Amino acid sequence: MDFKLTEEQLMIQQAARDFTQTELLPEVIERDEKQIFPKEQVKKMAELGFMGMMVDPKYSGSGLDTVSYVIAMEEISKIDASASVIMSVNNSLVCWGLEHYANEEQKEKYLKPLASGEKLGAFCLSEPEAGSDATSQKTTALENGDHYILNGTKNWITNGGSADIYLVIAQTHPNKKHHGINAFIVEKGMPGFEIGPKEQKLGIRGSDTHSLLFNDVKVPKENRIGEDGFGFKFAMKTLAGGRIGIAAQALGIATGAYELAKQYSKIRKSFGTEICNHQAIAFKLADMHTQIEAARHLVYKAAWEKDQGLNYDLSGAIAKLYASKVAMDTTIEAVQIHGGNGYVKEYHVERLMRDAKITQIYEGTSEIQKIVISRSILKN
Ligand code: CAA
Repeated sequence: MDFKLTEEQLMIQQAARDFTQTELLPEVIERDEKQIFPKEQVKKMAELGFMGMMVDPKYSGSGLDTVSYVIAMEEISKIDASASVIMSVNNSLVCWGLEHYANEEQKEKYLKPLASGEKLGAFCLSEPEAGSDATSQKTTALENGDHYILNGTKNWITNGGSADIYLVIAQTHPNKKHHGINAFIVEKGMPGFEIGPKEQKLGIRGSDTHSLLFNDVKVPKENRIGEDGFGFKFAMKTLAGGRIGIAAQALGIATGAYELAKQYSKIRKSFGTEICNHQAIAFKLADMHTQIEAARHLVYKAAWEKDQGLNYDLSGAIAKLYASKVAMDTTIEAVQIHGGNGYVKEYHVERLMRDAKITQIYEGTSEIQKIVISRSILKN
């Protein structure tokens, strides 16, 4: 067993670290406060090859492994979890889904500009009544000659307003239940495709979350991904990998908050000494460090399994379940260690605490991860 990162992985970690300090940190508080999408920063992430990290270079990607991707996700999430979710959706859900299941024409037309970061993608599964219960899709895509006619509403879509290309899951044959679901490539600007108002959120406020409305949108048949009825499997397969990305995001949020708390505890004094000298604080830091180490092992193991071609449904769900809990617990403790300063914006930890919560909700709530885990362990 080798726990050492390769030279290349260390270089990616350093590049991501440098990028966060020079490009993300300076205005992160303002972007959070005003819900500003980090457009320029996303452009620079694309220049660094972070928007299509695992995609084959022949489709304009960086050709890296999943471990490298989680390393970059972790670093970026330490500083700006809004930037990292934009990156995660584009990498894990959109590019990965297209690279693995789209045909050559679709890859040439859509994957290349997404992997290079020239365009941005969104993944559209959730609906007002189909978030966790993903088989209950109400959006329909009915066949009509050489087109499908798309009608319905999608909710809480990350990159909803800023994306150019949307992967939309919809029901084509309601009588076949989830076997009648398809996935489609929909372009911004197609007549009848409307972007709803931006959501006002607790956390990851720099990312752009919208509902989407489809009103008789004509989607060419060549934009369907895979065989007729493949859409639900497509969504499940794609989300299984997406969960590793969100687990890495949670790990980064936790680590970012822990590092700030540790630093602060060495400067802040009370009762005549730096607060890290009080066991009440030192033990909190010991717990945080231990939990983060455990989360990191789970996240990297899931990524490694994916790179080895093993099944990662279980390890990805475990990593997300645990890392998101660690993110929540650790950020709460980081605020506590900062005392009154933890409650004000300039110390960053209150933002990380707000950002942490979404990692227990999107790409499958913690309860969904427990369904995946319990089904997997009970089947043997
Ligand atoms: N890989 C391949 N196929 C899978 C699969 C996987 N990981 N998981 C399930 N399937 C298949 C099953 O084999 C089954 O197919 P068959 O009938 O042909 O055998 C089919 O999918 C249905 O599976 P289940 O019977 O297990 O379905 P279920 O209704 O019990 O639900 C679930 C399973 C795991 C709860 C699933 O609904 C789920 O993952 N829900 C959560 C969805 C989710 O993550 N939503 C988040 C939205 S996306 C997002 O947040 C993105 C963003 O913006 C950041």
